[in-house]
Amino acid sequence: MQRVCVIGMGPIGRLHARIYKELPNAELVGVCDIIPERAKAASEETGVPYFLDAQEMLDALKPDICSITTGGYEYSSDHYIPTIQALEAGCHVLGEKPISNSLKHAKEMVETARRLGRCYGINFNHRFTPAARQAEQWLADGRIGELLFCNMALWIGKFMKLDSPYYHLKALNPHSVNMMMHYCGPIEEVSCFAYKATGRDIWSTASINVRFKCGAVGHLTSSYDIARGHPMERCEVAGVKGRFVVEDMWREAVLYPAETYLKEVYTNPVFGGYSNFDDTFRARIKAFVDQVDSGAKPEEIDGSGQDGYEAQRVIHAAIKSLDNGGIPIKVEEVDE
Ligand SMILES: NC(=O)c1ccc[n+]([C@@H]2O[C@H](COP(=O)([O-])OP(=O)(O)OC[C@H]3O[C@@H](n4cnc5c(N)ncnc54)[C@H](O)[C@@H]3O)[C@@H](O)[C@H]2O)c1
Repeated sequence: MQRVCVIGMGPIGRLHARIYKELPNAELVGVCDIIPERAKAASEETGVPYFLDAQEMLDALKPDICSITTGGYEYSSDHYIPTIQALEAGCHVLGEKPISNSLKHAKEMVETARRLGRCYGINFNHRFTPAARQAEQWLADGRIGELLFCNMALWIGKFMKLDSPYYHLKALNPHSVNMMMHYCGPIEEVSCFAYKATGRDIWSTASINVRFKCGAVGHLTSSYDIARGHPMERCEVAGVKGRFVVEDMWREAVLYPAETYLKEVYTNPVFGGYSNFDDTFRARIKAFVDQVDSGAKPEEIDGSGQDGYEAQRVIHAAIKSLDNGGIPIKVEEVDE
């Protein structure tokens, strides 16, 4: 049984807290926010004590696992301090994406977890669904073969004023870049063009080309400009033996084998299937708790802090490319 705390009680922290309460191998023991109303509301909702200071909560409750669901500049600058605090307090940490808007901080967070031998996961919830797992299985079974290309797309409508021109690139794309790397391996080189849609002062739509280490090529289209874009996410991976498409995280995964006109389809079942986006969090958080609870080694964590750092390096390379007219940038050249 894992004793759990959550730091940062915005909508996402409250969702984490509710999910921990459902899990048979987790016990939510405390919640924390520096905004008293948010901390109190989360405490009333979950029935556990609230704290206004993360260090105080960690000292008092000594949890086994801590979710870090803070936000901040570029939706991630506040993750750094409580992540280090929780790791230093001996916790395994599940952090929200992006790991951090700062590569320097992200690297330090990963190194701290490694030094202390703690499990560190990032909430890449888009790819822990049965449909995404089915695609993983097709890859593992050799149904795709030598990889050729990956086409990834993710768009949502996010029209409010945002705090940085790079907000969309840094905060939305970790999911997509991680999914591309999960299926196709490390990315070596990137180029990026982007667009500020009418009325916007951020790079709100982007087109990113990548070259994977294995030699395959890939593309990511991402946008904050599409109000009702259903479907909103699509991941296509093709190889010499077959091609799969995962639609909207959990809705459908289709395999198109090269040797036949017959396709294989996984469709979200009506009974027992996913009912909404919250279920993607359920699957990801359950996977992390199950791994920790079964004694997984830090390097075995699926969707690790290291993966979060690597995704962010690709995004920083894309930003460097964007700022230099779209020229290709080697990811290894991007550092804090
Ligand atoms: N995985 C997903 O699909 C997904 C979806 C949306 C958002 N997110 C991520 O979830 C995170 C949180 O999103 P949100 O919308 O709930 O953000 P939010 O800004 O509404 O909430 C964050 C909360 O953290 C608190 N906080 C900041 N520093 C703190 C500290 N040191 N100690 C205690 N509390 C602290 C803030 O007061 C705030 O209440 C973001 O990183 C975001 O990128 C992930």
